[in-house]
Amino acid sequence: MTLAPSTRFDEAFFDSLASSVGPVETARSLPPACYTDQDFYAFEKEAIFYREWLCVGRESWLASPGDYFTTTHANEPMILARGKDGVIRAMSAVCQHRAMLVAEGHGHAKAFVCPYHHWTYGLDGKLVGAPAMERTCDFDRKGLGLPSFKVEIWNGFLFVNMDPEAAPLAPRLADVTEALANYDLHLAEGPRPDPPTRYPWNWKVMMENNNDGYHATRLHRGPLHDFIPSELATFPDLPADTAGYFRFNGTLHPDVGFNALQKAVLPIFPKLTEAQRNQVLFVNIPPTLSFVFLSDFVLYLTLHAESAGAHAMSIGWLVRPGAMEEPLFDARMAMNMSAAMEITAQDLHVDELVQIGLQSKFAPRGRYSWQEQAQRDLNVWLVERYRRAWARSKGEAPAAPAASSAPPARQTAPEPAVVD
Ligand code: FES
Ligand SMILES: [Fe+2]
Repeated sequence: MTLAPSTRFDEAFFDSLASSVGPVETARSLPPACYTDQDFYAFEKEAIFYREWLCVGRESWLASPGDYFTTTHANEPMILARGKDGVIRAMSAVCQHRAMLVAEGHGHAKAFVCPYHHWTYGLDGKLVGAPAMERTCDFDRKGLGLPSFKVEIWNGFLFVNMDPEAAPLAPRLADVTEALANYDLHLAEGPRPDPPTRYPWNWKVMMENNNDGYHATRLHRGPLHDFIPSELATFPDLPADTAGYFRFNGTLHPDVGFNALQKAVLPIFPKLTEAQRNQVLFVNIPPTLSFVFLSDFVLYLTLHAESAGAHAMSIGWLVRPGAMEEPLFDARMAMNMSAAMEITAQDLHVDELVQIGLQSKFAPRGRYSWQEQAQRDLNVWLVERYRRAWARSKGEAPAAPAASSAPPARQTAPEPAVVD
């Protein structure tokens, strides 16, 4: 959908986004309507979800030819499948007869047979069978395959892009790739996460919570989190066109762990430096993927936008190769996940109430602490794409990143604030 200038999402509205992308010391949060308005969500599909690389899972979930899984991003059901030729392909799951979904869940298949009337699609999405269509005029199977999407693999993660013209992802993740190189994520192991859980708040509320080091020392105050204090956050300078961003957060002791011991209890990733073992790395690749990197395991959160007021999220983890065969691995991992879920429950409670607050007529465009640099980084990523889509909707040539949205040089972090 394209927003007409007659809506309240007009020139003045898009001009007002400039105040969200300056330095963190002057920036404000996005207008509340960006989180609550269904017309804006429809606009976001055009501006972001139909154009950006969306994380769908791990390459290891498609180990053999015929393996497939399904997922949904921005209301688009998708299939990922490894073909007989070994190539991983992504395609729409929407049957080109009458829109039934041709696959659900995950499994192994020779072809996708639509349950409704048995139109049959190959693992490459081509329509290979359509019963009783011989009397149908001008019926040509060739043009009726499942719409296909671009696929890219980055560090063992599968990304898809619905835009056939999309530029590759990896070149715009060079800094992120370097920051997490020592974890060898392409080799890391972990199970397929449970299906995503639906939450009644906007996908950006969740991503901003994943982004947010400011709340760590406050909302999560207590022995399960106090060893990662907010004032030890640092934010590296990144290129203007970066597709992801990250922050380091120093820790009060090496190899911290989210468990009752406050220490890593699983095998440490072997290439980590001393400095890396004394920090936690938080990475975001909008609009779908967030990470938390600890010395012994990596949490990854995959977001699936559904509407202005809802999204779904899955939580996965990865460990160094072979770690899962260690004695007591399950019991040790359960210690981590138990504490991680206790912390996550605090986040989810806040997120739910933030979405309620954002619908209030008193909802602010709030000011930021220096510890919220990553919120401003997400604003830059979003506003650049909002502006381009707005320009396209007016028939203007797609603009290069606007000068005012390029990240200005970061200020030196102020002296640590007094911890309240
Ligand atoms: S809707 Fe799929 S075969 Fe009819
Ligand atoms: Fe949190």
